[in-house]
Amino acid sequence: MTPPEIAPLHEDLTFHGPLSEERAARLIRSLAPLDGAHVVDVGCGWAEFLLRTLDAARTATGTGVDRDAKAIAHAEASAGARDLADRVRFQVADVSGWRPDRPADVLIVNGASQVWGGDPLHHTANALTEARKLLAPRGRLLLGEGFWEREPSEAQLAAMPVPRAQYRSLADLVDLAHAHGYRLVAVEQANQDEWDVFENGHALAWERWLRDHPGSEHAAEIRATADTQRDYRLRGWRGTMGLAYLTLQAP
Ligand SMILES: C[S@@+](CC[C@H](N)C(=O)[O-])C[C@H]1O[C@@H](n2cnc3c(N)ncnc32)[C@H](O)[C@@H]1O
Repeated sequence: MTPPEIAPLHEDLTFHGPLSEERAARLIRSLAPLDGAHVVDVGCGWAEFLLRTLDAARTATGTGVDRDAKAIAHAEASAGARDLADRVRFQVADVSGWRPDRPADVLIVNGASQVWGGDPLHHTANALTEARKLLAPRGRLLLGEGFWEREPSEAQLAAMPVPRAQYRSLADLVDLAHAHGYRLVAVEQANQDEWDVFENGHALAWERWLRDHPGSEHAAEIRATADTQRDYRLRGWRGTMGLAYLTLQAP
């Protein structure tokens, strides 16, 4: 059975995460100075945030890395359409084995602490360690990372594939960054509207497909995927798991 073609997420979402345009613009400003900076985005997906960063700083250059070739193809097309192709380079690669050709003045790890692999319980600490190796002295790290907005109940934990120990409170997340040698410059968190837009964007492509292919041999499988995701969201993480945006200063 050939898998069904489901519309890519970028058709329904601006960013691949719970992030409004207003917050994105503010986060970009928090990464200053950007003049002449080299900006690296690991797990960049279709790289909307990286491209906006380069758009905001006409002398900055960028590198985006992701193992998803389709997302990188879309990123390259977007860069071309915005006249940014001469200042940004994209690579299809697994970040865990990837080595950059120059240090980053600004590193973006947004919803992507998993790119270095390993045990999910250590993804955050691992990302903070690996990011230091990619950053130039006095570089800035934008870390978009999960945390517990409130303590998840047993029922919520049972309803989602996220172990309690994978995340921590916001204060403990910031302490962990400080323990890795960074200083916190700014902290924000995705609000409920940003989460809902993001989660609705995930569901939309499946629901449209189900509406348009009622008799397909794949309908049961796609319906099950959509139902599982909806349960994760509404019985699991909605209002409990947060996404923090930390702007961190490296030494
Ligand atoms: C939640 S998305 C975030 C994308 C992007 N940072 C953004 O905010 O729009 C996570 C991304 O990490 C990528 N990814 C996951 N593991 C990876 C790995 N080992 N190497 C490279 N990319 C990886 C996925 O393909 C996906 O594009």
